[in-house]
Amino acid sequence: MDYEHELIETARALVAPGKGILAADESVGTIGKRFAKIGVPSTAETHRTYRDMLFTTPDIEEFISGVILYDETIRQESLGGTPFAQLLAEKGIIPGIKVDIGTSELALHPGEKITQGLDGLRERLEEYRSMGARFAKWRAVITIGPGIPTSACVSANAHALSRYAALAQEAGLVPVVEPEVLMDGDHDLDHCETVTTGVLRSVFRELTRQGVMLEGMLLKPSMTISGKSCAHQASVQDVAEATVRTLLRTVPAVVPGIVFLSGGQSSEVATAHLNAMNKMGPHPWELSYSYGRALQEPALTIWHGEQENTSAAQAAFYHRGKCNSAARTGSYTPEMERS
Ligand code: 13P
Repeated sequence: MDYEHELIETARALVAPGKGILAADESVGTIGKRFAKIGVPSTAETHRTYRDMLFTTPDIEEFISGVILYDETIRQESLGGTPFAQLLAEKGIIPGIKVDIGTSELALHPGEKITQGLDGLRERLEEYRSMGARFAKWRAVITIGPGIPTSACVSANAHALSRYAALAQEAGLVPVVEPEVLMDGDHDLDHCETVTTGVLRSVFRELTRQGVMLEGMLLKPSMTISGKSCAHQASVQDVAEATVRTLLRTVPAVVPGIVFLSGGQSSEVATAHLNAMNKMGPHPWELSYSYGRALQEPALTIWHGEQENTSAAQAAFYHRGKCNSAARTGSYTPEMERS
């Protein structure tokens, strides 16, 4: 494989000690929803101003190894006139790119989704690499409900993830393979563990079949957690133990890192979960973060679309980076939130 050495180096750099990934790859629709909540108009310019605030946060590279960009963003310049990918690279942050184009209904399977974007992907990956991207993300969505997920949904998504991962490695981009089991529903922790275990088994079976080099990829899973509307919410320690058990049973030890999504957990809970898992270590792989909402939410709320709030918003983002960085070594404490 042409990029074998580089892929391994990049994958390791993304999970370097004390660092994790910022997912800032919200589609136009998703960022529109987040902005609507705080009454900020959603335009290419407001997206640009907001992402500029995040990416120019002083010293954020202490805690952030890579940033996942959206297609719109990788084509934009910072407010200072530097292309965003270049601005990040100059800070020592690896630019990444979301390459799926979202989900649609899985045919003949009501309530289930399949991720789209394989057609033309080889050409798009080549362009993204020329624009500076060195890793890529593809998100598959698995929903838990009565009679679902079906094996049709799990295997179709595992196949698409693996086709994408193979194309990404061919193009010299580290695939971040994201099978997200949604938190929506009233299922309990055990049920989530059963489903997530089956999904990850299927994903790694297919990745192997497609020839993906496991040393040159990262897994971005959801945690094994109680459904949002389950009457009994599992404790932080129970979630940490169930998640680590799920991963030990399914993820080969040669995978360099596992970078969790936050999936709707509050910022502080997402940090506490990661911390509890790392306290249980050492593990075969690095356990780190690739959070979207859990890294951004406090900063987004403070920013509120106003230039004068930039420094305060950046301070909030820096703080979340610092807390999650501490969670990489199990040294996060709730007291850090008040300092
Ligand atoms: P959340 O951490 O907000 O779930 O976002 C991560 C992500 O990249 C989802 O695709």
